[in-house]
Amino acid sequence: MPHALRLACIGCGARAQTYTALAARKSDRFQIVAGADPVAERVEKIRRISGRPDFQGFDSAESLLAAGKIADVMIVATQDNFHFKHCQGALRLGYDVLLEKPISTTAEQVLEIERLATQANRRVMVCFVLRFAAFYRKAKEIIQSGALGEIVSIQANEGVNPWHQAHSFVRGHWSVAGRSSPMILSKCCHDTDIVHWLVGRRCVRIASFGSLEFFRPERAPVGAPLRCTDGCPVGDTCPYNALRYTTDMRFPWLAMVYDRAQAASVDEITAWLRTSPWGRCVYRCDNDAADRQVLAMEFEGGVTGTFTMTAFATGRHIEICGTRGVLKGGESYRQHFGTHLILLPHEGEPVRYTVQAEDGGYELHCGGDTGLVNALYDEMTKPPGAPLEAGLDSTVHSHLIAFAAEEARLTRRTVNLAEWQQTTGNRP
Ligand SMILES: NC(=O)c1ccc[n+]([C@@H]2O[C@H](COP(=O)([O-])OP(=O)(O)OC[C@H]3O[C@@H](n4cnc5c(N)ncnc54)[C@H](O)[C@@H]3O)[C@@H](O)[C@H]2O)c1
Repeated sequence: MPHALRLACIGCGARAQTYTALAARKSDRFQIVAGADPVAERVEKIRRISGRPDFQGFDSAESLLAAGKIADVMIVATQDNFHFKHCQGALRLGYDVLLEKPISTTAEQVLEIERLATQANRRVMVCFVLRFAAFYRKAKEIIQSGALGEIVSIQANEGVNPWHQAHSFVRGHWSVAGRSSPMILSKCCHDTDIVHWLVGRRCVRIASFGSLEFFRPERAPVGAPLRCTDGCPVGDTCPYNALRYTTDMRFPWLAMVYDRAQAASVDEITAWLRTSPWGRCVYRCDNDAADRQVLAMEFEGGVTGTFTMTAFATGRHIEICGTRGVLKGGESYRQHFGTHLILLPHEGEPVRYTVQAEDGGYELHCGGDTGLVNALYDEMTKPPGAPLEAGLDSTVHSHLIAFAAEEARLTRRTVNLAEWQQTTGNRP
């Protein structure tokens, strides 16, 4: 058995904690040797997860990178707009990288990461956890079995969920595109990736419509103050009342953004809400993330696809039409019909599939985090240059679909991906 892979992480927040906790269960395969984060408590969490007395903690990415190459794989799990800098720094030191999505927030930087990784001959695995989730692996297996015949069209949708939208894309980290990235990238690059991965062909043309219509100042109830803590007249009935962080929305939502969510009293959380972004009225934030967006796509060979993102539904769904049958599935099927996927052959009886995942996860992420960490060892010990299950050779295009979609939405035109890449100075 070759040696265990030494893992270090830049950013010790929610995602890094998830991945390292899963890796720590496989001590024959992984050793967690270092972590960097300006928030000392988060470094301490990773130290505890590592269980290693020689774990090295750092207060910034810069200080960890200044220590040279002290591990085999760097997990880059900072916020979106730091990914480029931190991944670039790790690649330059000769690390293989497990990189959180999105690869970066501009198409140029995404392509530059691909160039740097090729130049350094290093592996970069992107955390597209849905590719490792039991649901999507089963869908891919059914497609590859030939049961659908030739794929003709794909429809996919993602219901973000109203509270999730408010937490992350109205009040939270990804609410302002200029500070992070547009919704179609920050949330839905998972979806452009999964559609691209399932179809197995490149996208050639794309159109998109969408906007922010609901979480806007003119939608605020009469008399609603700037903060829910300031005595809102509709606080009792507003589903977005931030005081819910002290009750039913404490877990998991508060815990994602407030380190003391477990221990804090209601008074402490309320005091925090008085100044925190998560205490603001959802109609009076500085957000510009779309709360609805549709994509119409043409793939090589004339395969057509649509994707819909909406704040006002919950869960992901797919419908794939082929010359021999149709495959449908998703969150509503799971919740209401007790099955994940249904194959409807054009001739013959329907077949139902229920998938099992090792961990709970949420919605159709089920098993994705575990699947990704389970795959990490084999992926990172493949010969350099060999294709990875979520390597840059396929995930870069998934990002370009998202960037082109945003271009199409903003310019109100259909974007030809090859032409767009050329005119924006990207690869032909
Ligand atoms: N793959 C998925 O399904 C999935 C799900 C959620 C989030 N994400 C992505 O994961 C990334 C991290 O998300 P998160 O929820 O863990 O965020 P988080 O805010 O919990 O963690 C990010 C951490 O980076 C730290 N940080 C900031 N500057 C730093 C620096 N210079 N050096 C070191 N650390 C620094 C922050 O203090 C924070 O602890 C984001 O890019 C997000 O889009 C992916």
